[in-house]
Amino acid sequence: MEAMGIDIGGSGIKGAPVDLSLGALTGERHRIETPDESTPEAIVHVVKQVIDFHDWHGPVGVTVPSVVIDGIVLTAANIDKRWIGFDAQGALEAELGESVSVLNDADAAGLAEVRYGAARDRSGVCVVLTFGTGIGSAIINDGVLVPNSELGHLEFKGMEAEHYAAGRLVKRDTGDIGWWVERVDEFLQHIDLILSPKTIVFGGGISKRFDDFASQLHTRATVVRAELLNNAGIVGAAMAASEGTHV
Ligand code: BGC
Repeated sequence: MEAMGIDIGGSGIKGAPVDLSLGALTGERHRIETPDESTPEAIVHVVKQVIDFHDWHGPVGVTVPSVVIDGIVLTAANIDKRWIGFDAQGALEAELGESVSVLNDADAAGLAEVRYGAARDRSGVCVVLTFGTGIGSAIINDGVLVPNSELGHLEFKGMEAEHYAAGRLVKRDTGDIGWWVERVDEFLQHIDLILSPKTIVFGGGISKRFDDFASQLHTRATVVRAELLNNAGIVGAAMAASEGTHV
């Protein structure tokens, strides 16, 4: 079975059809710049362009960097505040004429990593974290997602955790990141304390450098590097679409 996955990010809106038996893209990953004014209406319009590019007819899954309940966007930490309260599922279904599932971006990445990526075949509680503009999180137990965990907004060291340790605080390719790794280690140990996961999947662009700092993480959980990277959101969105998941 195939479904379309679309990942709405701060800089680009990316989409491709996904073969769900493999968790692999079956077409080009089509990317359109996120409009400067990233209002819900402007983004819905871009999602339609991605769907039209692929000439897609069938279920569509869409990620947003927000809490989503019943297709309605409830938070907007790193996107235009006009998203708060927006019925994304309703608006997208009206625009596309297809059935649409909307879910949090890290939840989508988590579903994909657990089924096809770094945490496949790992039982028990798995926490997937994406270190980027913010810190995204997914909590999954034996393949079942508890949506909208938002661990990046936990209060930590007197501030929101994502202000303390997001990936955007360091360069993903060069430069000293020792101070940041220490912060991440503290945060991961806090996750250990409150959730006792067996596995933590480390994602986000900075995970490129994971092998350089993995030995400096002192968690009880086994920490593994995300595998699907750029495609995790697309694949997870397609999974949600094929299962008709409405978180
Ligand atoms: C948002 C989350 C999102 C994460 C990664 C956070 O600021 O609150 O919903 O998953 O950034 O994009």
